[in-house]
Amino acid sequence: MSRTVYVNGEYMPEEDARISIFDRGFLMADGVYEVTSVLGGKLVDFDGHAARLSRSLAELDMKQPISHEELLAAHRELVTRNGIDEGLVYLQVTRGNPGDRDFAFPDPDETTGTVVMFTQSKPGLAKSPAAKIGLKVISIPDLRWHRRDIKTVQLLYPSMGKMAALAAGADDAWFIEDGKVTEGTSNNAYIVKDGKIITRELSHDILHGITRAAVLRFAAEAQMVVEERSFTLAEAQAADEAFVTSATAFVMPVVEIDGAPIGAGAPGPMAARLREIYIEESLKAAI
Ligand code: PDD
Repeated sequence: MSRTVYVNGEYMPEEDARISIFDRGFLMADGVYEVTSVLGGKLVDFDGHAARLSRSLAELDMKQPISHEELLAAHRELVTRNGIDEGLVYLQVTRGNPGDRDFAFPDPDETTGTVVMFTQSKPGLAKSPAAKIGLKVISIPDLRWHRRDIKTVQLLYPSMGKMAALAAGADDAWFIEDGKVTEGTSNNAYIVKDGKIITRELSHDILHGITRAAVLRFAAEAQMVVEERSFTLAEAQAADEAFVTSATAFVMPVVEIDGAPIGAGAPGPMAARLREIYIEESLKAAI
């Protein structure tokens, strides 16, 4: 069955959606995006995603093409029209383009940004069997640009990382820079050692995960000790537990890095507890 999607203020069947071939999102990856998860037909941490979108746009000198209220209304409308109970809403804003391909940005007063949104249904997101098994990851060099805090659609290298992981019989890849783990291809990375949760501090080196912020808040509320600092691959391999967080994975245990089992080689208790708390609290706060 065809989905209803959103393109620049209009709802339409996915087959009817059209974007210009001159759009800078298509030609130059000149665009930003957000992924908001849906639990129980409601949006998880919508305000956090909307705030990060505004920040990404501002960092790239792009105008905010849609108000917070319109954005929320469109997210809800798509969830309703597509009957999403568990899944996600994908939102992308590009700089658009009125004319020819050019490295210089077009005049913002004569250009309208392109806004598209669509849903993906993912039944069983909260009760994911993968959370019981845990992920195997490989390490690869972090060859991305150095403004990873901006959520741009330049996702070729992360996709290549995912393919390298699959080719190696693993599930995902962790990026390494200067001997330290930055993050996963599409998630933030954590280890647990001697009861302490360790995750890289916020900077231009990583995406400031909305799930990360929520998980660290819940961890502090549950009296868990959190240390925000970078860690090496060797430290990760010697950790008691490891996990990742993202809007679609929530809290997902990692049980193996480059073939080395983490702890007992099975999902650890801290990750399991944090996943439980995150899903419970997110369901309560979803709008
Ligand atoms: N990815 N780091 C990277 C590189 C990411 O792409 C993501 C999210 C995260 C986690 O951020 P958040 O908790 O706000 O989802 C960290 C999304 C889910 C994606 O690209 O599909």
